[in-house]
Amino acid sequence: MTRKVVLITGANGQLGSEIRLLENQYPQFAFTFTDIQELDLQNSQAVFDCFSRLKPDYLINCAAYTAVDKAESDVELCYSINSAAVRNLALAAKQQNTIVLHVSTDYVFDGKQARPYRENDAVCPVSVYGKSKLQGEQVLNEICPSSSVIVRTAWLYSAFGNNFVKTMIRLGREKSELRVVNDQWGSPTYGADLAEALMKIVLSAEDGHFTPGIYHFSNEGKCSWYEFAQKIHQLAGITNCKIIPVTTAEYPTAAQRPSFSLLDKSKIRKDYGVAVPLWTDSLETCLSKFNNCI
Ligand SMILES: NC(=O)c1ccc[n+]([C@@H]2O[C@H](COP(=O)([O-])OP(=O)(O)OC[C@H]3O[C@@H](n4cnc5c(N)ncnc54)[C@H](OP(=O)(O)O)[C@@H]3O)[C@@H](O)[C@H]2O)c1
Repeated sequence: MTRKVVLITGANGQLGSEIRLLENQYPQFAFTFTDIQELDLQNSQAVFDCFSRLKPDYLINCAAYTAVDKAESDVELCYSINSAAVRNLALAAKQQNTIVLHVSTDYVFDGKQARPYRENDAVCPVSVYGKSKLQGEQVLNEICPSSSVIVRTAWLYSAFGNNFVKTMIRLGREKSELRVVNDQWGSPTYGADLAEALMKIVLSAEDGHFTPGIYHFSNEGKCSWYEFAQKIHQLAGITNCKIIPVTTAEYPTAAQRPSFSLLDKSKIRKDYGVAVPLWTDSLETCLSKFNNCI
């Protein structure tokens, strides 16, 4: 039996690394993992050649420019990776009839809403990163409207790469005091849960149930960055560091961030039967699995 080919781009990042961990659970698929060293997505010819050679049945694009603050002064590169590279992927995927799973962000919203964001709520990004990711969504939707799924996620962390959880643990061990923003609200996402959700979409497509479009996925529940930090320290057993809640105004950053970016996950639950674990449970799982190496 020939195995269906799943191409993972940006495979060395947080999400890509979590998908790599799942590889053995899905022997029915032949995975190919690439990152910028093997395949720079900004190089359209290289992308076309890769797709012609591999003829992937599925693409899961985990590649992105994710340095939200740096993006404010690195605009060209940010758009090149988050939008132009997505165009290259979309055109190659269209030519090879590849189903595309692309990952986007809660930062396409401005955060002014009072209820969790649904997929069809008005977008209004307030940062270069958010604008570039929105443009990536639009490009993909123009080129592959019936063969692509965009999964917007938020506050992603994992045992791999750099993220808030690892930073809080490192600083918590080094410092006696930390200031963390307490007026931005959202829901963290454990990369392993997102990886499972994406594979669930692939499995569903294999069963003939593929509904293209935009989906939201994060963990369930709501917290501020301050509450997130408190929980991280509690679960990691860090007791000698005081966390002080501050306002966004007291903690200025280059990029503006939405003050509320909770995502409504009803659609992905309904269309794809994706499970959405509580953020505190997933954080506990991540830390119990990886605390020794974080
Ligand atoms: N991190 C978050 O909090 C968050 C929140 C919401 C949404 N998201 C979205 O979730 C997805 C996964 O994020 P993540 O945190 O896993 O990202 P990440 O850890 O930053 O990984 C992205 C990967 O893409 C690679 N890459 C960059 N430019 C590339 C290029 N031109 N060609 C090929 N690969 C390239 C990066 O390589 P280098 O490291 O060498 O640049 C890196 O390995 C992204 O779409 C992101 O926008 C993330």
